[in-house]
Amino acid sequence: MKNQHALVVGGTGMLKNVCHWLIEQGYHVSVIGRNKTKLNKLKQEITQPQKLHGISVDYQNSTCLSNELLNLFERHGIPDIVVSWIHSTAPQALPLIKDMIGKQDLSTNWRLIHIQGSARFFEKENTPVPENCLYRRVFLGFILEDNHSRWLTHTEISDGVIHAITTDNNETIVGTLEPWDMRP
Ligand SMILES: NC(=O)c1ccc[n+]([C@@H]2O[C@H](COP(=O)([O-])OP(=O)(O)OC[C@H]3O[C@@H](n4cnc5c(N)ncnc54)[C@H](OP(=O)(O)O)[C@@H]3O)[C@@H](O)[C@H]2O)c1
Repeated sequence: MKNQHALVVGGTGMLKNVCHWLIEQGYHVSVIGRNKTKLNKLKQEITQPQKLHGISVDYQNSTCLSNELLNLFERHGIPDIVVSWIHSTAPQALPLIKDMIGKQDLSTNWRLIHIQGSARFFEKENTPVPENCLYRRVFLGFILEDNHSRWLTHTEISDGVIHAITTDNNETIVGTLEPWDMRP
């Protein structure tokens, strides 16, 4: 049977625990980030390092990103799930990833967990996806505590993303987005 393969874009920061969890679930996990030291550190921390494949690339550079993805598909197969945390400085990166996976002749669907910042919730942008893509959106909100609010911790963010993957809902809000004027 084919190994389950997950791609986590931006997996060396707040999504580290998501990478650990995916490995525990039996996935081979490919992680995109620029900094090789951070990628190596994550590999050292993981219980089954042979299942973690670090890809050092700047996702703002489309040529490099598409070369790295082609390499990845060849070596580890097409991802069954993509967890994407991509800064707005690279609006072309996610469409490129979607198109490259969408062009593959896949007999099964793949899942895209698209993580977005809180302000995106109110824009309700339409994200086109290929036919074989199951699109799931995760909004990162904030935490209301008594009379004040704060942003989410890394643990809360990773736990929320793991919850979104497990429940497989179309839309998940981690923390809250209301009342919006109470945000930190
Ligand atoms: N609603 C909320 O509460 C909320 C929402 C968002 C963020 N935050 C907080 O804000 C902090 C900072 O956010 P952050 O976005 O820096 O998150 P982060 O997850 O800590 O870091 C960003 C991730 O993306 C990678 N990355 C960034 N730019 C890249 C590029 N051009 N090409 C390839 N990979 C790239 C980084 O690795 P490299 O640096 O090695 O490239 C890293 O893995 C977070 O740690 C979190 O605590 C809170």
